[in-house]
Amino acid sequence: MDRKTIEFYNKNAHRYAEWRSKESADLSQRIFLNEVKLNGKIIDLGCGTGEKAIWFNKKGLKVDAVDASLEMLEKFKHFKDISTKQIDLSKIMFLKKYDGVWASFSIQHLEKSIQDRLFKKIAKTLNKNGIFYIGIHEGNKSYRDNLHRLYVPRSETELKKILKKNKLQIFNLFKEKNFSFDNKPIKIMHIFSKLIC
Ligand SMILES: C[S@@+](CC[C@H](N)C(=O)[O-])C[C@H]1O[C@@H](n2cnc3c(N)ncnc32)[C@H](O)[C@@H]1O
Repeated sequence: MDRKTIEFYNKNAHRYAEWRSKESADLSQRIFLNEVKLNGKIIDLGCGTGEKAIWFNKKGLKVDAVDASLEMLEKFKHFKDISTKQIDLSKIMFLKKYDGVWASFSIQHLEKSIQDRLFKKIAKTLNKNGIFYIGIHEGNKSYRDNLHRLYVPRSETELKKILKKNKLQIFNLFKEKNFSFDNKPIKIMHIFSKLIC
């Protein structure tokens, strides 16, 4: 876990929740919901302040949600239908099988080799035909942003290779230009894959 990144989220949980809550459900959420089996069980990795986890829960999915930042989790702890846990994704051990794994702009805060190890674990925790969504910044170089968060973006080619290696077959991929929390223009990728064995 990158200490400075988590410090940032701990200190800014309130502002992050306000920023995120201004957004309505996006296309990625709808694609994921359509693909995960009805009333399926999912886990939200790096769930932040829980807006997406709550939305999926309200649509009928059973949701576990994990994040390394206690302050981020604190923002939706009162939402009892969702099981929340403070977990560092670089050390996560999955104890259950899931029909879907949702990872929205969290894995990019992990070093490359740790990301790759996590992809392997994700493939193992998915049920057959389980869905994996990753939202991630596109790029080749790691950096710290002005808010001291570590970013480890990936290229489409790299991700295609590592997903394939883990028997995760991409069925949808789209890119967008957007703005990050600190208003910086960013290029992002939304990648949906399915466990094929
Ligand atoms: C950009 S926010 C995204 C939050 C949420 N998924 C969303 O889409 O709004 C990144 C999240 O990843 C979490 N995170 C960063 N590194 C982590 C790690 N090593 N283990 C668990 N969570 C981590 C942060 O605490 C933060 O909540």
